[in-house]
Amino acid sequence: MSEAISQMSETNTLSASDILQSCQHGGLSGEFAVPGDKSISHRSLVLGGLAIGTTRITGLLEGDDVKATANAMRALGVAITRDEDGSWLVDGVGTAGLQSPTQPLDLGNSGTGVRLLMGVVAGLPVTATFYGDESLSMRPMARVTNPLAEMGAHVTSREGGRLPVMIKGARTPLAATHTSKVASAQVKSAILLAGINARGTSAVTEPHASRDHTESMLRHFGASVTQTTAADGTHHVALQGEVILRAADVVVPRDPSSAAFPIVAALLTPGSDIILPGVGINPLRTGLITTLQEMGGEINLSHARVKGGESVADIRVRHSRLHGIDVPAGRAASMIDEYPILAIAATQANGITRMQGVAELRVKETDRIAVVADGIESAGGTVHYDDDSISVTGSPIAGGVTIASQHDHRIAMSFLTLGMISDTPITVAGCQTINTSFPNFATLMNRCGAQISSVADQA
Ligand code: S3P
Repeated sequence: MSEAISQMSETNTLSASDILQSCQHGGLSGEFAVPGDKSISHRSLVLGGLAIGTTRITGLLEGDDVKATANAMRALGVAITRDEDGSWLVDGVGTAGLQSPTQPLDLGNSGTGVRLLMGVVAGLPVTATFYGDESLSMRPMARVTNPLAEMGAHVTSREGGRLPVMIKGARTPLAATHTSKVASAQVKSAILLAGINARGTSAVTEPHASRDHTESMLRHFGASVTQTTAADGTHHVALQGEVILRAADVVVPRDPSSAAFPIVAALLTPGSDIILPGVGINPLRTGLITTLQEMGGEINLSHARVKGGESVADIRVRHSRLHGIDVPAGRAASMIDEYPILAIAATQANGITRMQGVAELRVKETDRIAVVADGIESAGGTVHYDDDSISVTGSPIAGGVTIASQHDHRIAMSFLTLGMISDTPITVAGCQTINTSFPNFATLMNRCGAQISSVADQA
């Protein structure tokens, strides 16, 4: 078999495989190019569609979540195509050009996709119904639909503010003045997107700054957006409404939340030395890197540069002895998706790692506090948790268990990483979900030296 064909069949087998097993290996080495940033990919399709003219997107994440957003934008009347060179073209129709879809919009597993698009529809004379998979259907939507209703949208939802949600958008939305109880980029972004057509300034205040990709990209497409952070950490964002967005090309950096897995895998496995090129280092996304460096991780950033309006750098990671630390609550927003993999890293740190202010993990793709804690304990580790914190005590991990992903890509990748250091292999069931954010995860890991295999292939 030629190398190209053997790589292709390896990719197909592993990414199509639902049950994967991971075991110890001799260390990771070489270059590890993680895919495009999920948050920025969603936003580039949404804002590209709302702008006038054609936006070319380079480095778009071709994962299931982003594909669901692309399909929803198509159903709203935007032509989106993949060019031969792998870039994507969005033929923006302007806010006046969006149409009501004829079918309900299926956002699959994607909280970002559904919440951003609810914001878009709420601020336009468009009606749409949104639904998703089992996991998305359990997640709270009222945190987004309540402020959108205050802006004039008509919202109906299943009991408890859950999906399916139907939104009849406002022809002339009212500008928002919203104070969010949680630091959430999805809530903030939905309100800002609804505010594009509102008369006056839409303002959102959040207790800590969440990722600001919507703000940056709105500016990139011609809007006026201001951001201020007060001494107590409160973050305030304001968008001048009634703005006409103009198409602007987007270069998507590689995703720091996907980079988190090879970073931790390399830190934990003896002999590892990898380089991750061109990873986004927006300071509102790098809490995990700061935390792992404080724990003693050898992680070095070089060639910092600005690409398409976002900062990126090359990241070198070497195997390191880690020690437990207290991770401050104020850092949670900048590493909210990284706690499952940090908990895995903490199992190999000397002493206790305490993570505070993590209540939001309970409403992610799963209840990540409980699922990560139960999984680590079943593999032989020691974890204590309550509603807002997790403490992991470093200890050897026996492994030899099967963990169910529960439709959560980050749970699946976290436990495949734990299998790399456990005494006996760890099996993860429900690995298809990895395709939502990191379709070639297992293939790239194996290319750098990991041993992740399909359980079906072993049978
Ligand atoms: C995201 C924001 C975060 C994060 C999610 C992606 C985004 O959610 O967990 O994976 O792209 O805006 P919250 O904003 O609800 O914390």
